[in-house]
Amino acid sequence: MAEEDVLKFIAGNGEKIVLRLAGCDDAEEIISVIKTNAPDRSYELMELYGTKPDSVKKYICSMDFDKNLLLVAVANNIVVGALSGIQMDGGKRPQTSHILNIGLHMVTAYRGLGIGSQMLRFAIDWAKQHSFKKLEANIFTTNKRSLHVFERVGFVEEGTRQKRIRIGKQYIDEVLVGKVL
Ligand SMILES: CC(C)(COP(=O)(O)OP(=O)(O)OC[C@H]1O[C@@H](n2cnc3c(N)ncnc32)[C@H](O)[C@@H]1OP(=O)(O)O)[C@@H](O)C(=O)NCCC(=O)NCCS
Repeated sequence: MAEEDVLKFIAGNGEKIVLRLAGCDDAEEIISVIKTNAPDRSYELMELYGTKPDSVKKYICSMDFDKNLLLVAVANNIVVGALSGIQMDGGKRPQTSHILNIGLHMVTAYRGLGIGSQMLRFAIDWAKQHSFKKLEANIFTTNKRSLHVFERVGFVEEGTRQKRIRIGKQYIDEVLVGKVL
């Protein structure tokens, strides 16, 4: 099921925000949200979606929305945030298919308004309803805001992987956070 409103609320700046399940038609807007997050930090979704609009659309349109979640936050008919919940290993390994990997991205102007937290809470409920047993996310150790937001909704740090990501000549440590459902 996609492209339906799931939640409406007022953000910290007073604007009305609609959360809705996304689909094929949202591909371009989602990738532009991710790109505004500083392209070099968005490796995870970019790896999945590819960098060209066509490959993004192909990936999103091929998603099984019973096992994967794509959620957008919309303000004034513009997508300002995107959350992806991707079944681990594409659901191909029964040993890990109970895990949903979360990626969360807000455009700069809409950060710090409580929207990301609302999207995470929705994802937690969605995962429970779809029989997932655990949520995981990978966060750069330097990304204190993101760590704070995930911990506030019940994720705990499970370990740090050093030099996990290479960006140019720089290697970045990453924290794995998880929430058992
Ligand atoms: C991380 C992100 C998704 C959070 O979404 P958001 O809508 O901005 O988050 P919220 O407004 O719901 O909550 C922000 C919280 O972080 C806190 N915060 C802000 N800057 C912070 C910092 N440097 N250190 C710790 N906490 C910080 C705020 O005080 C607020 O917490 P509070 O409500 O307890 O006061 C968003 O900021 C973003 O897109 N960042 C860039 C991409 C990214 O880092 N993605 C995460 C990787 S999965």
